[in-house]
Amino acid sequence: MSSFTQALQTTIGRKILTGLTGIFLTLFLVVHLSGNLLLLSGDGGEAFNQYAHFLHGLGTLLYASEIILVILFLTHAYLGIAIYRNKKKARPVDYSYTKSQGGPSKQNLASRSMLITGSIVLLFVILHVMHFKYHLFSPGTYTTTHGGVEMDDLARHVSVAFSNPWIVAAYTFVMVLIGVHLKHGVWSAFISLGVKNPKITPALYTFGGIVAIVLAAGFLLLPIYIYFNGGV
Ligand code: HEM
Repeated sequence: MSSFTQALQTTIGRKILTGLTGIFLTLFLVVHLSGNLLLLSGDGGEAFNQYAHFLHGLGTLLYASEIILVILFLTHAYLGIAIYRNKKKARPVDYSYTKSQGGPSKQNLASRSMLITGSIVLLFVILHVMHFKYHLFSPGTYTTTHGGVEMDDLARHVSVAFSNPWIVAAYTFVMVLIGVHLKHGVWSAFISLGVKNPKITPALYTFGGIVAIVLAAGFLLLPIYIYFNGGV
């Protein structure tokens, strides 16, 4: 058995890899949100369509990043479930009363609901990619021409989706859950990676909260703005 596979049999090894994959997934969210905010540039979606067209033109490089992304998501989800099951095995009956121990424990609703929020986000990502990338559950694909180049009109696709109040409500709900998941997840990732210095951990906790609020609010802005604006 390789030392990597051996490390994955231990709780600490699993926590380190969960933390690392979580950090990379958070970085993906930062990049994804930055690209998506182009939808708000007030140009009818041109900048966003050009950006998506550029990404599609990367060909093999884009496919390779997508495969890495899927591996990151699945590894993170699998290890998260494995850690939870181990914890359950060690303590089959939950404490009837839980209170934050302060310091590095930071027990709260966000920490105790990681499995639920994570599972809902995973389900959301599957449906989201089927909808926005593979155009399932949509009337069809749209194309447009910018600077004489024909390309997918993804901005219109997003606008049509976010004209539906049920989709906007579902996105609002999931974006709040993403915020709750990140609030505990970002901080916890650093602790799993060995940051134990009590002088740094409170600042990291605040940092995790800020990352969660900025990402959740940034993603939330898109469906809400597009719905009330009647498109991009
Ligand atoms: C509410 C705001 C969001 C909007 C408007 C949005 C928009 C899009 C669009 C248009 C695509 C298709 C891109 C393409 O075909 O090139 C896409 C892909 C994707 N989105 Fe989102 N997204 C949002 C939030 C999220 C969130 C919160 C997550 C993760 C938790 C996420 C994860 C993904 C993933 C994994 C892909 C596939 C990327 C790829 O295969 O290249 N998105 N998104």
